[in-house]
Amino acid sequence: MNGLIAGNWKMNGTLASARTLAQGIAERISGRVAKSTGSLPEVVLCPPAPLLSVVGGSVAGRSVMLGAQDCHQDVKGAHTGDVSAVLLAECGCRYVIVGHSERRTDHGETDDLVRRKASAVRDAGLIPIICVGETEKERDQGVTAAVIARQMAGSVPRQSQAATTVIAYEPVWAIGTGRTPTVAEIEDVHSQIRALFDGAHGHGAALRILYGGSVKGSNASQVLAAKGVNGALVGGASLDLDDFWRIITACPI
Ligand code: PGA
Repeated sequence: MNGLIAGNWKMNGTLASARTLAQGIAERISGRVAKSTGSLPEVVLCPPAPLLSVVGGSVAGRSVMLGAQDCHQDVKGAHTGDVSAVLLAECGCRYVIVGHSERRTDHGETDDLVRRKASAVRDAGLIPIICVGETEKERDQGVTAAVIARQMAGSVPRQSQAATTVIAYEPVWAIGTGRTPTVAEIEDVHSQIRALFDGAHGHGAALRILYGGSVKGSNASQVLAAKGVNGALVGGASLDLDDFWRIITACPI
């Protein structure tokens, strides 16, 4: 199973900065491939939707995939401001993040809606990166496992297959805070997610599970070496070329 490092740019970037960052990443990856100095994980850039074409143009022909940060659950219709997974596929996306905690909080997205979005992504021939994770209060109350179980049962479509699904474990309290769970805590939740997926859909061993929440160049090796971690969903640090590159090269494929 190939590792996966996804950069979630959130609502950041301009036409100019997106081009520079995407070209920088693509050039480093091409340089590494040309020199044959070891394999790299799959790298996915998820810019804001209006920047997809400039980022897609900047990485065209290189080993960098394009991803979106969200989509609507329907194929088309009267949904002002929304974007369908079908259109994202046409724009060159391979992945779509769904159920990010910022969408669950800012836009009141429920597990049921996240599941419908993930289905729409799959129906468009793309791979959903489905986010789950507990809040700080839930961790303090000792209900992390129950929250993860509820989110997995509610957010992952019934017909999901391991090869075409990615789950991101993102503790809400670790996002953008500089705080991360211990390696043991990450391993615990990843193993729970894998077992839950295996029980509901089978082939859990083939499922890619990313860790997300304050991953940086300085902690990437430790986080990515944790058992059951197949890559990272990176927010803030994905906006810095050097830091993101350190994370990419820290991924043990
Ligand atoms: P962060 O964000 O790396 O800035 O903590 C991660 C995410 O929200 O996906």
